[in-house]
Amino acid sequence: MPVTCVYGMQWGDEGKGRIVDLLAAESDFVVRYQGGANAGHTVIVGEEKYVLHLLPSGAIQPATINVIGNGVVVDPWVLIEEIDELAGRGISLDGRLLISDRAHVVLPHHKTMDQALEALRGADALGTTSRGIGPAYGDKFRRAGMRVADLLKPHRYEDLLQANTGAWNAILDKAGLDPIDVASVIEETRAVGERLRPYAADVTTILLEAWKAGRPILAEGAQGFGLDVDHGSYPFVTSSTTGPAGVSAGTGLPPRALDRVVGIVKAYTTRVGAGPFPTKDTGPAGVHLAKAGHEFGATTGRPRDCGWFDAVLARRAAFTQGATSVCLMKLDCLSGMDEIKLCTAYELDGVRVDAPPAWAGDWERCEPVYESFAGWTEDIGGARRFEDLPATAQTYVRRIQEILETPVEVISVGAERERFIPLVEGIPVGV
Ligand code: IMO
Ligand code: MG
Repeated sequence: MPVTCVYGMQWGDEGKGRIVDLLAAESDFVVRYQGGANAGHTVIVGEEKYVLHLLPSGAIQPATINVIGNGVVVDPWVLIEEIDELAGRGISLDGRLLISDRAHVVLPHHKTMDQALEALRGADALGTTSRGIGPAYGDKFRRAGMRVADLLKPHRYEDLLQANTGAWNAILDKAGLDPIDVASVIEETRAVGERLRPYAADVTTILLEAWKAGRPILAEGAQGFGLDVDHGSYPFVTSSTTGPAGVSAGTGLPPRALDRVVGIVKAYTTRVGAGPFPTKDTGPAGVHLAKAGHEFGATTGRPRDCGWFDAVLARRAAFTQGATSVCLMKLDCLSGMDEIKLCTAYELDGVRVDAPPAWAGDWERCEPVYESFAGWTEDIGGARRFEDLPATAQTYVRRIQEILETPVEVISVGAERERFIPLVEGIPVGV
């Protein structure tokens, strides 16, 4: 597996961390290429649960080198907390963490701005994670961002910060919030800059050398296709390119370096934050899924909305991003449901729709067209082969594979590391 990308095919929280952890065992490098501390990637090993926001999910494997690419927006305080927390639990990142000197930094005022902008939106708030993601990427793209390289050069940093905060202070004033106190930001960031210094590097050069030497590299996506800034339910999205299309921009590896693209999808759909969700179920099915899947945000603790598998979204995520395989997560959470529904198309104003509409308002009004499947009652947590699954579960999985036109590579049947069914070649559809 020279260069593999793992990305989310829904609205985040698909179980990317769990798959990255599995694949990391055979990767020399795990690289985050976009997003920031808005991610919440969970890895469960035995009795231990790890929730990672900025550290790549290769952190839990003992030998993997973890890389934060230039496309990530780095909150130094969150990162340091994560490094220290893992160290406290006996996992050292010394010599195993690299941070791109080109990565942009999330500063306290970005988080304040995130909240202020949400307050200004009022009823139209996006429901962001308040992690400063939009303002930090906004600064990057308006060419007024602060990078790790700047943090390591205090003089340059102070001048830049002075120059770049003027526009923000005008907005903060309008929202009735205190202006950014540049002197105190400088003071606060001095220490964190020094903590990051040992990890900062031109990671693109390191990754290019590794790629040329044929060493296995795993690119770990955060968020999901429905939250992609271009292809998602804009404006109810995050501020980055979430799929494999973001890997080259966010690491410096060339696009042709990617050999394998693994899409992660839950056997149902969840969403946290505002925005369209046509297959949302507010009845007993939604309650069942929320409970069985413990559907609470790993970053914010907010309850996630739950509903049926949305193949309009997942198909688009598979086709546009070129998934070479799919991992189907949390199939076990469907156990005990009489009927399982799968949305294969939408209807909008009486017209059939096969791709997500451009306008979130239209997407919101879409009515799902469902296929119905019989459920199963068995606990499938112990299944390790496809044949171990009840026939009804096999039928449902085969149908998903057929609709996505992409082989299912792994079926997850529980949160623990070993609870999955490996199917590298996919399930023979005709069997
Ligand atoms: P992982 O990597 C689920 C959602 C927020 C909000 C929108 C914009 O764990 O799958 P932002 O803070 O990014 O500006 O918020 O995106 N969101 C996520 N939802 N999982 C995530 O990450 C998310 N990261 C952002 O809830 O709707
Ligand atoms: Mg999450």
